[in-house]
Amino acid sequence: MKHRTGNLLTDRPELYEARFPDPGRLAGRWAEDVLRRYGAGPAVLDLGCGTGRDAACLQDAGRRVTAADLSGAMLAHARAQHPGPVYVQADLSRFDFGHRAFDAVVCLDSSLLYCHTNEQLDGFLTSCRRTLVPGGLLVAEMRNGAYFLGRDEPPRIPAVSRFTWQGTTYRSTTALRVDRAAQLLRRTRRWTADDGSPPVEEHSAWRLLLPQELRHFLTVHGFDVLALHDGPGPRTEPVWQPGAEPGAAADGDRLHLIARKPVGDSAGHSAHPATGEQP
Ligand SMILES: C[S@@+](CC[C@H](N)C(=O)[O-])C[C@H]1O[C@@H](n2cnc3c(N)ncnc32)[C@H](O)[C@@H]1O
Repeated sequence: MKHRTGNLLTDRPELYEARFPDPGRLAGRWAEDVLRRYGAGPAVLDLGCGTGRDAACLQDAGRRVTAADLSGAMLAHARAQHPGPVYVQADLSRFDFGHRAFDAVVCLDSSLLYCHTNEQLDGFLTSCRRTLVPGGLLVAEMRNGAYFLGRDEPPRIPAVSRFTWQGTTYRSTTALRVDRAAQLLRRTRRWTADDGSPPVEEHSAWRLLLPQELRHFLTVHGFDVLALHDGPGPRTEPVWQPGAEPGAAADGDRLHLIARKPVGDSAGHSAHPATGEQP
């Protein structure tokens, strides 16, 4: 078995979209709905943008989107397949776009949970606060630590998935393990493909954040938490539909966060974003 520290789906973005299709652009439409409901201005930063499909959806909705990811392969795919936004390479746990300011930051599908340590979370929130205009929004959607840490065991049976892309059938077996001390959901994924390539095993992790812990981090960093709930959202069951009202619970598999940098907070940017300026 070949071991790799990378991530096959991040290194091969076309496989990411085949494995996690979102033909109705539900995640992007959900984010746009939130931005509209809370009156966000047009300049949006999508952090951990992946293949760029959510960023492009927001751009198509009339936003002026800058989208950032750590993965060069993801960014190359995004530029080619989902043009419109400006794509930049950046680490979401410590980014600085200088004088550029945004009306909203979005961070979808657990990208925020790649901040494994408290220091990385501090870096993420410090960077978001600096880059947002006063009154700017932070919108995030992620796995929920309360769902995993609140159970004796995570789902025990490894999840098996199969999909075919360009004539090759890929099969993945995913096992999850809760590392309580580090508050990490550790994932082992084994890949096989029927094209003769050797099997691959890869390891990754998400930070498990409890809702009240996340609320505390936000408060300490000067944000007002407007909503923190477990759905409906773009990856919940039942799934979000336009017009759906969020519930009051924060116990399910997914957490949805909407927070605002106070109007009187001039940390970083006191002016409105410069029109047309992009990194
Ligand atoms: C699960 S994907 C989500 C992609 C996209 N937001 C979506 O919803 O389809 C997570 C993304 O976060 C990116 N990522 C991981 N760590 C990162 C970091 N420290 N800074 C920026 N991006 C990161 C990965 O390269 C990957 O594209």
